[in-house]
This record gives sequence, C-alpha cells and structure tokens, in this order.
Amino acid sequence: MTRPTSKPRIRIREATRADLSALLDVHFEAFDSDPMNQLMYPAGVTENARELFGQSLFPPESDTVDENKHGETRIFVAELLADDTADEVPVEIVAYAKWQIFRHGRPEAEWNTDDPPMTTEMLGEGVDADVYNAFLGGMHRVRKQHSRGDASVNLGILACRPTRQRLGAASALMRWGTELADELGLPSYLESSPYGYPVYKKFGYQDIDVLDLKITELWGVVKTNDRKWGEDSAVELAGPLPAGTYRSAIMKRPAKAASV
Ligand SMILES: CC(C)(COP(=O)(O)OP(=O)(O)OC[C@H]1O[C@@H](n2cnc3c(N)ncnc32)[C@H](O)[C@@H]1OP(=O)(O)O)[C@@H](O)C(=O)NCCC(=O)NCCS
Repeated sequence: MTRPTSKPRIRIREATRADLSALLDVHFEAFDSDPMNQLMYPAGVTENARELFGQSLFPPESDTVDENKHGETRIFVAELLADDTADEVPVEIVAYAKWQIFRHGRPEAEWNTDDPPMTTEMLGEGVDADVYNAFLGGMHRVRKQHSRGDASVNLGILACRPTRQRLGAASALMRWGTELADELGLPSYLESSPYGYPVYKKFGYQDIDVLDLKITELWGVVKTNDRKWGEDSAVELAGPLPAGTYRSAIMKRPAKAASV
C-alpha cells in the first residue's frame, strides 16, 4: 500500500535585511490578483514603489522608528525545505509575516493620533494614494477604534507565494505570533483580506468589525467569479456582502486566560 504523500516541510525563521528582495517578490506575487492591489498600483508596481514599500519593512538604518506608535516589529519568513535530505536545506522563501508587538498599554494621547493621509511621494511613483488611504488607512482606523492602546501582538502582513499555497506556510507563521500572544497573555488584532479569513478563523480570531468599500461604485472595478471580495467574511456580524463591495474583516483573538 502506498502511503499518502505528506506535506512538504516548512521551517520558519526571523527575516534579515538580506531576505528583503525575496520578501518583496513574495508580497507582490501574493497580492497581484487582489483587486485592491490592482487599484493601488494601477500601472503595476514601479521600482520606486517597491523600494519604498521595502523601506516600510526594513527602514534604513539611519531612521529611528517610533516603537510607541508602530510597536516592536518582528518579521518572519517561511522556507520550503528540500525533502530528499534529513537536513534542513532551504529551497526557497515561500511566505512571510510581519508582527507588531505592543508589550505595554499606551495612553490615549499615544494611540489616538490623527495620521495625515499618505501621498504618492511617500508611497512611490504610480501608487494611487486615494485608494491607499481609503483602503489601508480605513482598515487601520477601524482597527484602532477597537485595539485602542491595548498591549497586544498584532499581525501587520501575511503573504504566501501563489504557487506554494496550502502547504501550511502561513499556519507556521501564525503559530509563532499566536504562541507569543499566549505566552505574554495578550490579545491579537488584525485586518483580514478575503483569503486570509479562513486562516485566521482557524487560529481563533473572531470578527469584531468590517470595512466595506463600494469599489465598483468608487473605482469601477467589476467582480469576476474567480475572485473572493469577502463574501465569506464576518457574515454573521455584518450581514451578506452587498454587490460591488469589497470586505475586510477586523478580527481579534482574545487573550488566553492564565492557566491555574
Ligand atoms: C492567506 C494566505 C497567506 C494563506 O497562506 P497558505 O500558506 O496557503 O495558508 P496555509 O497553507 O497555512 O492554510 C491554513 C489553513 O487556512 C485555510 N485556507 C487557506 N487558504 C484557503 C483557501 N484559499 N480557501 C479555504 N481555506 C483556506 C485552510 O483551513 C488551511 O488549512 P488546510 O490546508 O490544512 O485545509 C495566502 O492565501 C495568501 O498569501 N493570499 C494572498 C494574500 C493575502 O490575502 N494575505 C492575507 C492578508 S490579511
């Protein structure tokens, strides 16, 4: 009898600046077919936009990062390992996650700030800043109303190369952050895309709000049947997804009660 083939081996490790180019490849491949990404990068991702996005992951060493505002950033990569050897021989980086950790609660003056809208100059040549502010700015605003100044372990980004999905790479990355949250006894917040939603449900995240954007009315995008726009996300909380609307779910994984 032949044994069912097991899933390829995945290992995670903390990312370094040397991984940045691979990380950016993973990111833009993963989000390439997402309508919001296509609206933010209408003419494709220019070199300048890629570079500036890269700096948001690994800021230039001369920059000082305000950890009170952004939290402590930890970026992890998931690597696919060669399966013909007992050793851990990485074949390629297939996924990455960015976590933002707030170990202590913050007073309202620190978290409830009015962030000025981003401009194309800040985001990179060819980026539609209006879409960026309505979408990413909108999600952050809604999430902030819930997370407030809570000490928490928050997921900023999760992405897996399309050719390497359903191998457990995202799960391995999620395990790190949710285990850290449990160790610290903290909740975790995130903003979920339609494709991230089933992964987050599996890790115990619950719906707390949504950002519904009427993208057909606003920007003329037409839905194709092969793309999810969030019809499966937070339906109990927010109702069925209206036509022409793209839904992001705002989710919270409650702090695990301390074991006695
Ligand atoms: C979301 C994403 C990161 C998941 O990556 P992945 O490595 O394929 O996820 P995993 O293999 O760890 O899947 C974990 C579980 O989530 C669920 N899941 C993942 N993708 C799913 C899909 N397309 N449909 C239904 N369930 C899915 C399954 O329960 C899966 O476990 P299983 O394969 O054992 O059934 C990946 O689809 C992606 O990069 N999408 C585009 C970018 C994106 O939307 N990122 C999230 C931003 S919030």
